[in-house]
Amino acid sequence: MALGGTIRGKKTTLRLPIEADLEMYNRWIADMRVRRAHRVWHEPAMPATWKERFKEIAKDKQNVLWSIDAGGSLVGFALGHLWTMGNGFDVNQLVIDPDEWRKGYGFDAALALHRYVFDYLDLRLATFELRADNGAALKIVTKLGHTEFAHGHEVDYRDGAYVDEIKLRMDKETWHERWSAEREYPPLAADATR
Ligand SMILES: CC(C)(COP(=O)(O)OP(=O)(O)OC[C@H]1O[C@@H](n2cnc3c(N)ncnc32)[C@H](O)[C@@H]1OP(=O)(O)O)[C@@H](O)C(=O)NCCC(=O)NCCS
Repeated sequence: MALGGTIRGKKTTLRLPIEADLEMYNRWIADMRVRRAHRVWHEPAMPATWKERFKEIAKDKQNVLWSIDAGGSLVGFALGHLWTMGNGFDVNQLVIDPDEWRKGYGFDAALALHRYVFDYLDLRLATFELRADNGAALKIVTKLGHTEFAHGHEVDYRDGAYVDEIKLRMDKETWHERWSAEREYPPLAADATR
């Protein structure tokens, strides 16, 4: 697993996960409000089993997993995957504790994650894959600047009906156009790298 390090947003901080976080991850994944949005990453399981899964993820150097804190407590996690060529980043999971939804944590954490992708790693592209009825996630990614590039019809079966799936992407140029002027930290002086 690549070390994502600590990334500070305005409301949230993405940090290295610790074993004690796993129980909360497990609880969220089991929550129907979260399960509705995702293909199941891992079925709910005993925290002991999660430790094994955690190790499994950690084996792949291209995976990046963060815990998300707000106000000093754990409120979510994010999991992504660096492409083999090192040019892009797929956000596979972004989960906020359902009891903490609609406080702006999801957007703030997503913005911080994109800083990592574009400003820290200087990658070319970020992508998301979402169910088409995921209103909250769609709001977040379109506000960031993602646009749809693929639409799968009736891809997943859920709650007795099929649901579409869409893929969205944002490139580095769009990121810079939209977000260069707004930062949580002061920009580097123009001659800082000379
Ligand atoms: C998607 C998710 C991370 C959003 O977290 P959150 O902390 O509630 O997000 P925010 O508070 O930043 O809200 C983001 C925007 O979505 C809107 N929103 C939140 N919940 C919504 C809902 N159920 N329906 C429609 N819009 C919603 C908010 O009003 C906000 O809009 P604004 O920018 O106009 O103010 C959270 O709902 C979640 O964990 N869902 C399950 C997992 C998931 O779907 N992950 C994303 C796919 S990887």
